[in-house]
Amino acid sequence: MVYQTEASELSPLGSTRENGYNRAMRVTVGVSGGIAAYKAAELVRALQRQALEVHVVMTESACKFVQPLTFAALIGRKVITSLWEEGQGETADDQNGIEHIGEAQWTEALVVAPATANILAKFAHGIADDFLSTMYLATTAPVLVAPAMNVNMWNHPAMQANLELLRQRGVRVIEPGTGSLACGIVGVGRMAEPEAIADAVLNSLGRRHDMAGEVVLVTAGGTREALDPVRYLGNRSSGKMGYALAEAAQSRGAKVILISGPAALHPPSHCEVVRVTTAQEMRDAVLERMTEATLVVKAAAVADYKPVMVSEQKLKRTGPLMLELAPTEDILAEVVKRRRPGQLIIGFAAETENRVENGRAKLLRKGADAIVVNQVSAGVGIEADTNAATFLTPTTSSELHEMPKRELADRILDEILTLRRPRLLVVELDDEDSRKKRQDEVLTETVQPARRQLIVE
Ligand SMILES: Cc1cc2nc3c(=O)[nH]c(=O)nc-3n(C[C@H](O)[C@H](O)[C@H](O)COP(=O)(O)O)c2cc1C
Repeated sequence: MVYQTEASELSPLGSTRENGYNRAMRVTVGVSGGIAAYKAAELVRALQRQALEVHVVMTESACKFVQPLTFAALIGRKVITSLWEEGQGETADDQNGIEHIGEAQWTEALVVAPATANILAKFAHGIADDFLSTMYLATTAPVLVAPAMNVNMWNHPAMQANLELLRQRGVRVIEPGTGSLACGIVGVGRMAEPEAIADAVLNSLGRRHDMAGEVVLVTAGGTREALDPVRYLGNRSSGKMGYALAEAAQSRGAKVILISGPAALHPPSHCEVVRVTTAQEMRDAVLERMTEATLVVKAAAVADYKPVMVSEQKLKRTGPLMLELAPTEDILAEVVKRRRPGQLIIGFAAETENRVENGRAKLLRKGADAIVVNQVSAGVGIEADTNAATFLTPTTSSELHEMPKRELADRILDEILTLRRPRLLVVELDDEDSRKKRQDEVLTETVQPARRQLIVE
């Protein structure tokens, strides 16, 4: 009996798959004139956290509620507030002064939040008398609107008829919630929460949701080993890479447990965060929580050595000081030893020389499924906002060239997910019972539980 599953994308030993630059997807946030305009700033941040490039267009009324400067500071470029300003954008249409066409072509999703009754009426009836309404007619990108208004405005038949027209034309209406409105009335009309609007934008962009069912344990940041009550031995890791991985996995549908050393970063919303300080605490937390994980990504820079003696009192300057250091426990090796079937273990290594050779030696020594070898050089890698890395498995090597850490996080997750793809498997078995038994064994060994059912079906 012969059966086979899909072929994997395994490259021949040592071959390199060169990866192209994964450009950020582009979103325009339209802000119209309602009280909820201030919440649009949170929406911009939520979209940026998803590695999207964001432009902002404000109506004249919106500028009465929030200063364009607020958004300009967030997006690092000018906010479009009028049809009649000289174009300063990147496309030919921008530079010719027809910026609304340039912006309409540039964007991959237009989201209007808050959307006033007025802008919705203009969209529904094709009135194009300002930048936002003109751009709406000119774009072929998906359009989403998040209405916010007084409950009576919302319930007005004219409003509901306009919304119905827009829905019929493919505009995605992100329904307002019920609650106490700015006008003092309780009812429907509160703009949806910025995170929910950002999720809808991601959906409309067809952003992947390919990690649903995964439970990802990510370690991040450096550890600190005390010398005395005020001093410690540490390293320059900022935690940015690990936090970016946590955010990327979470945005792709995974449940994320982030075990973080001290870091001055906001953890991504919806992640469970476990804070630790020392290598020992990191080890204990990882071993305790790894049983829940389908994927362990060890991005933390854990101390290799710790002082043998920790002084109870602050050390005084009394001349030369010799420190005796003892090795810490090797967490990656312990994780590999305790792994359960189907659990993927990914290590990280920071190498200053012979990256691929040293990285592969570490990978083979530790027995992880893959290792991400960071480049360490001026302005790249440790502490920096960008990073370059080599993703090594025992048989493949992928170069991930320098890019922002949030984008690199998605590229690393793409690489990790290729390890989940079933490999070409040809097994000769005599009877139906042995075939079924072997099939179950192979699925248990290679595929995580949430996906197994899909494949069997
Ligand atoms: C204090 C204040 C709050 C307002 N809040 C809203 C609102 O939440 N929703 C809405 O549809 N209109 C609201 N309006 C009315 C709009 O600002 C008005 O219809 C304006 O013409 C909208 O212009 P725009 O759609 O070009 O931004 C408000 C007006 C004022 C003065």
